[in-house]
Amino acid sequence: MELKGRRIVLGVTGGIAAYKAAELVRLLGKHGADVQVAMTEGAAHFVTATTFQALSGKAVYTDQWDARMPNAMAHIDLSRQADLILVAPASADFMARITHGMADDLLATMVLARDCPLLLAPAMNRQMWENPATRRNVAQLQADGVQILGPACGEQACGEVGAGRMLEPEEILEEVVAFFTPKVLAGQRVLMTAGPTFEAIDPVRGITNLSSGRMGYAVARAARHAGAKVTLVSGPVALAVPAGVERIKVKSALDMHAAVMAHVDASDIFIGVAAVADYRVANAAEHKLKKDTGGIPPIELIENPDILAEVAALPDGPFCVGFAAESRNLEAYAQAKRRKKNIPLIAGNLIQEGFGGEDNRLVLFDDTGLHPLAPAAKSVLARQLIEHIATLTGKN
Ligand code: C5P
Repeated sequence: MELKGRRIVLGVTGGIAAYKAAELVRLLGKHGADVQVAMTEGAAHFVTATTFQALSGKAVYTDQWDARMPNAMAHIDLSRQADLILVAPASADFMARITHGMADDLLATMVLARDCPLLLAPAMNRQMWENPATRRNVAQLQADGVQILGPACGEQACGEVGAGRMLEPEEILEEVVAFFTPKVLAGQRVLMTAGPTFEAIDPVRGITNLSSGRMGYAVARAARHAGAKVTLVSGPVALAVPAGVERIKVKSALDMHAAVMAHVDASDIFIGVAAVADYRVANAAEHKLKKDTGGIPPIELIENPDILAEVAALPDGPFCVGFAAESRNLEAYAQAKRRKKNIPLIAGNLIQEGFGGEDNRLVLFDDTGLHPLAPAAKSVLARQLIEHIATLTGKN
């Protein structure tokens, strides 16, 4: 419910990507937004108003002279009620019209009459996107404070390949959530670890753990929404990379250690969320172990580097945040870990309350004591953790 209470006018213009706007209405609504759809006449050639009405639960506006508005001022009324106007897809023609302040249909008039921000998700053929006229219009719109989302590169409905594809609905949703998130970590470089590690026994077997990576990925997403540049060193997980986050995939604790050390100089904040294996197999086999050769093979373990403690010990290192997943004695263990690793902040959770699921319960431990967060979705807890980090680092 990251968009709860946000009033969004979704403008849909004429392009084949208009069919994806239907999914966008559903996603925005699912995240709590109050969505009012306004379409151009061109859009109605691709998707009907009935589709958007059914998905948004609201009458859709197309016509400037719509008699449903008692004062015949749909453009003023609708844009005044909005916290944001988002146009997806935004066609080349629509962008050209609003660049020049034209008000020749309801949506363009609303854009001109608005007193809220405007986001555009362009969608067009690559040649249209690259045309100098479109380039000029985009530059002018950006200079006027309009935010342009994408477009992406890839295969287009016309069969050509290039820049001009509308971002996927999930990516646009991410940008809208980011738009409404206070930029408490603006300009900060955040380096993170997440997920489990996998310590090979032989080429097909290994030692790992049940970390899903969800908490770490939620923190990465929240940090990026808060304006940070995020590098996420991730163990093997089945999760999509959060939009705008750079992910480095690793397997073992040693790989993770190497990736972190290679990026730590260029970071202001380090957040270790990964469940790093304490030990790795010293005698990992080069070839697959066979059952019928010489009894039960012994597995010899040696200690892995403690990535977080090592980063925390660096002279002029980043601000360090750790995680402590415990099965009991949370406060005592988490505080002891915080002191031992010499880090200013640790987020603790009891394992039975949140391993692999969407929800979690976190307690933050810092120099001032403990701060329990109300049980919530990992996305909400991640945002609260980021806000706490921003307070401690003086960035908020
Ligand atoms: O030492 P312990 O595993 O209990 O501490 C957990 C915290 O330390 C987590 O933030 C985890 O990411 C980090 N850690 C690490 N390298 C290790 C072990 C843990 O960075 N080898």
